[in-house]
Parts: sequence; C-alpha cells; structure tokens
Amino acid sequence: MNTIEKYKKYVNISMVEKVQPVVIEKAHGVLVTDTNGKEYIDCFSGIAVVNAGHCNEKVIEAAKAQMDKLVHCCSYVYYSKPTADLAEKLAQVTPGKLTKSFFGNGGAEAIEGALRLAKQFTGRTEFISLQASFHGRSYATLSITGFSGRKKRGGPYMTGCSFLPAPYCYRCFFELEYPRCNLRCAKALEDIILYNTYGNVACFIAEPILGEGGIITPPDDYFLEIEKILKRREILFLADEVQTGFCRTGRMFGIEHYGVEPDILAVAKGIADGFPLSAFIAREEVADSFKPGDHLSTFGGNPVSCAAALANIEFLEEQNLAQKTLEKGNFLKARLESLKTKYKIMGEIRGKGLMIGIELVRGPISKDPAQTEGKKIQEICLEKGLLIGLGGIYGNVLRIQPPLVISQEQMEEAIKILELAFSKVD
Ligand SMILES: Cc1ncc(COP(=O)(O)O)c(C=O)c1O
Repeated sequence: MNTIEKYKKYVNISMVEKVQPVVIEKAHGVLVTDTNGKEYIDCFSGIAVVNAGHCNEKVIEAAKAQMDKLVHCCSYVYYSKPTADLAEKLAQVTPGKLTKSFFGNGGAEAIEGALRLAKQFTGRTEFISLQASFHGRSYATLSITGFSGRKKRGGPYMTGCSFLPAPYCYRCFFELEYPRCNLRCAKALEDIILYNTYGNVACFIAEPILGEGGIITPPDDYFLEIEKILKRREILFLADEVQTGFCRTGRMFGIEHYGVEPDILAVAKGIADGFPLSAFIAREEVADSFKPGDHLSTFGGNPVSCAAALANIEFLEEQNLAQKTLEKGNFLKARLESLKTKYKIMGEIRGKGLMIGIELVRGPISKDPAQTEGKKIQEICLEKGLLIGLGGIYGNVLRIQPPLVISQEQMEEAIKILELAFSKVD
C-alpha cells in the first residue's frame, strides 16, 4: 500500500473534505517537495506555522542539540532550562506587562487554559467572543467559536457564551460603512453585555485578525473602542494570537497594530516553527490566580519544543522579519490590487503583513460567495506548483500566508500562478 492508500485505510480523515493529493517528502525555506520530486512554493506554511521557513537551520540545530540532552521529564514536575529561557524571552517580546507563561501543546489547549485562568482571576464565568471567530476544536474553544461550519453536529455547547458581530467591513452586520459607522460593531459590545449576558463576564476574546473566518481585518481603531468598554466593566481581554503571532502580520504580535494591551495572550502555531508548542502569557497578578491543582500539562513546555521556539524567536528578531514581513505584505497586496481591476471575482483583498485574504465573489454588488471557483483556483495553483489555503465563513477566501522568508522572486512567481488561475475561472 502506498501512503495515500494507507491514509484511506488507517488514518481517520473522514472529517476533512479531502486531503490535498500530494505526499510531502521534504521542505526547506519556502519550498516543499513531494515524493515525485515536484517542487511547490508554499504560501500556506502548514496553516500559518513555519514563519521562519521550513526546517530553518537555526531552529533545527537548537532542537537537535536539546534532543541529545533531554527530550522529556515533565517541565511542571521538575525544572527545565529551555522552558525557563523561553518564558523569559516571551516576557520580553510580548506587549505590556505580560510576564508569566503557561505552556501547552496546541492552540486549543492554550485558549482553553486561558479561559480557565480568566475565570479564576475574575471569579466570573461568562465569555464574549466574535462572530466568525475560530478558537479551536476542544469543547470550550468550540463553544466560544463563532463559526457554525466548525461547530455543526457538535452541540449542545457550553452556556455563558455570547457573540459580538464581527468587524467584517466587507459584509457589515449593521450594513454600515467605515468610518461613518462610528465603529457600531465595537460599540455593540455594551449591548451584548446588557442583553445577552447575566452580567458575569470574565473575559472578551478575539483574534487581532480573524484567520479561519476569512482573514477578517478589524479597522485600526476597533480594539481601542473595545478596550474602553472592557476597562469600564473590568472585563479581561484575551488576545488569541495563535495565528497572528510571531511576525505573521508584520509585528511580533498582531495586537501591536492596534495599540492596546491584552491581559492574556495565547500563542501556538508559529511559536516554534513547526514543533508542537503553545502558551498563554498573562500579567503576574492574573497568572498567579491559578492555585495548586488548578492546571497542568504532561507535555507542555517540552524542552525540545522550547529550545526550538527560543531559536525561532531569535531568528525572527535577528532577521528583522517583522519589518520585512510588513514590506513583503504591502508589495503582495499592491500587486493583488492591480489584478483586482482585471478579475472581477476578486471581491476584496485584506490582511496585514503576510496574512493576506482574497475574498472571491460572483459579482461586486451581489457579493455572492464564489466557493467552487475558490476550489478550482486552489487546484490550478497546486497543479502549477503553488500551495495556498482556502477558508472563510463561506469557504470563498484564498489565504496567502507564506513563510516570512519568502523571496521577491518567489512572490513574483506566486503572483504569476495566481493570475493564471484567476484567468481560468473569471
Ligand atoms: C486563531 C486560532 N485559535 C486557535 C486555533 C486552534 O489551534 P490548534 O489547531 O493548534 O488547536 C487556531 C487554529 O487554526 C486558530 O487559528
């Protein structure tokens, strides 16, 4: 049996529409190679994970050196140097007074723990999140996810979860237009607290850019308005930076674009360039509200993943990848905007840094979501050697999220392939 046949027989893949028909053998930097030797430019990064590039030398070297010394002894039963060093680094690079990290293995686990911490600190039990958000596949994280495509057939969900209309300007819930809307969607937080909760809200949780929801990018002053309301009501702000973290948006963390400081910040994906690791980082007084017995993880803070993460963050800093990502993103967006005048299927181009979404529609007025065309574009790209993602609430948003080390040449080539694909469906 070959790999695809084994997958069909032994790997439970019934929950995905399809696995892309490519068996990946190796990857380096931005290039991925399949078992037939065909090369692809990767513009999806394993769902926005390998920010520093596939098999980044510095990261791999650090992980290998750690593997020769210690792989696991449980970082919450005994002290582990790489875990301590990474926590110190995270305290330095995260905004504001965030200093204490709890380590887990994946994004959902980080959000789940952060929700628990918010409850512990505030003594309250309710949560507010955004429509169109995605926070993970565990029970609590699906409960606060505002994306029915991800929740279907899984309910009933946790009580005490309320949803605020998303800052989705292209399809505004209030049918208003920014900036004349006066940030109605942010101000609605007051209404949600008043009408949908019983006044016992522990935290508001949001992604700085809603990734799975379709790279929905809030207006620049959105979170300042949200922060005002939260501060007035002493509700914590939990930033889900699982997808926006580690320079993806052109800043170390996505929330830095908005000039607000979260009380808890959750990270995963890009933290260790592909090694499984997650964390939530909180202000000391918030973090210390966990009491003995309240939380733990067997694998969390694994020394190999932590050593990889530390090397990864050092690499991002040394290479000044935040700034470079901003510049590359601006270049790509400008080129895509120029294509938009030619291909009417390109409804909106949005995002920050190298977290770019192209919302596909069947007409600029109807904005009828073009999902099948999206799948076709993704297929053509694959055939021509370009990996891209497809997501969004309606499944009609192309996701361009390459490793941040992508070169000018590779960006040009990616645009060329994308244009060819647009020309075939438009
Ligand atoms: C914003 C956000 N939060 C949480 C998660 C869940 O992360 P994981 O799949 O590592 O559990 C994701 C995954 O896509 C995400 O994008």
